[in-house]
Amino acid sequence: MGLMEHIGSQPESYKQKKAYKFEEVLGTGAFGEVKQASWTPPPGNPHYDDAQKVGGHIEVAVKVIKKKALKGDLQAVHDEVEVLTGLNHPNIVKLYDSFESKEKFYLAFQLASGGELFEKIASRGKFTEGDAATVITHLLEGIKYLHDHHIVHRDIKPENLLYIKPNSDQLVIADFGIAKHIEDNESLTSLAGSPGYAAPEVLLKQGHGKPVDLWSAGVVTYTLLCGYIPFRATGTQELIEECKAAKLEFHNKYWSKVSDDAKAFIRALIQPNPDDRPTAEQALKHKWLVDAAKRQHEHDLSEGFKANWTPSRRWKSSINTLIATRRFAQAAEKARGTSGSTPSSSELTPADEHPPRTSASTDEYNTAEEDDPGLHDAIRRRDREHETVRERELQAKSHERERGEGRQGRRSAERDRDLNQISAGLEGLQT
Ligand SMILES: Nc1ncnc2c1ncn2[C@@H]1O[C@H](COP(=O)(O)OP(=O)(O)O)[C@@H](O)[C@H]1O
Ligand SMILES: [Mg+2]
Repeated sequence: MGLMEHIGSQPESYKQKKAYKFEEVLGTGAFGEVKQASWTPPPGNPHYDDAQKVGGHIEVAVKVIKKKALKGDLQAVHDEVEVLTGLNHPNIVKLYDSFESKEKFYLAFQLASGGELFEKIASRGKFTEGDAATVITHLLEGIKYLHDHHIVHRDIKPENLLYIKPNSDQLVIADFGIAKHIEDNESLTSLAGSPGYAAPEVLLKQGHGKPVDLWSAGVVTYTLLCGYIPFRATGTQELIEECKAAKLEFHNKYWSKVSDDAKAFIRALIQPNPDDRPTAEQALKHKWLVDAAKRQHEHDLSEGFKANWTPSRRWKSSINTLIATRRFAQAAEKARGTSGSTPSSSELTPADEHPPRTSASTDEYNTAEEDDPGLHDAIRRRDREHETVRERELQAKSHERERGEGRQGRRSAERDRDLNQISAGLEGLQT
């Protein structure tokens, strides 16, 4: 095929790409990269008041998604655009523009130049409970807004929480890759979320809705105050059991100086029964958040946080996400049916025991936990906590379609495909 034919066969929206000058890579996700770019919006467009402007240009973060990586599941990207369109809140990342080429989708977001939440905390000096309360207030304001607009995010976790600017408290919720519109009393059954952050009703496929975001917010709060996540089992079955039991431990070494209010707040959110969790609006009224401003002489939590948390490994491969998905599906079956039975170890080997062939960084664990074996698992869990179980349209949506659930329930049958096909496709993505 000649060059002209190739250009001629680009989708209509491809011409929008000319308005972008691409710059450095900001992050890597499951389906491609996020790159900073300088965008010259077409005349007569909205004013983008909150955008980061340089001259006549707007600095944006462009999520570049390889269509091949979606394995025919192109609707997933349209869903991400659909969910974000029309949203306007200081704690929700804004989508400015989107277009596609033959091979890729491009989603242009408001640039969050302050970076990921935990990276910023790891790089700053003092960090107190008051600071944590500010972070969680922003997070809950964003969640409240989403829930008011009938959207469940489903992937609330540290790497999806970004600071708008390096020297600002303004935090935005990003990554609407598996977010969903949901009607009142509607229940989703797909297995979607991130191990360690996902609520038990998700793992058990019992049907879930808005309360999953409150659970995840509770996990983020816990992790924010100590640097390790509360549910750290390395085996899938064990992790599900831990979440189901929702047993929280506040190890003295890192929690002795943390207030009872903070612990009560975490306990309120990490409730195994979704009906027992507060709504985002109720959580915002919790004493811990309301009294945060009054607190003085607060203990510096940053030392413990830094000892326990290191920047995530950026796994370039999606393989492990898929492995995790499968294992969770299998383990969930067991947990629902025969709770307490011993799972076969081959099925339930945790994903992090199979390092990806394209592992982005080293195995180094810098940890203060060597002397504290009770917390040793946290270190291993860290490897896995950044994976999102993205069934996307896999069996999940066809499931929901069958049950008439979700706005996406109307999607065509062409996306019905099983995990094996996706797996085969992902194998091709290794490079
Ligand atoms: N608007 C943004 N501004 C700055 N960085 C971003 C922005 N959106 C995403 N990133 C970076 O790219 C990473 C991946 O983006 P995300 O939307 O979470 O993709 P994925 O769905 O693949 O996880 C984020 O964790 C973050 O580091
Ligand atoms: Mg993400």
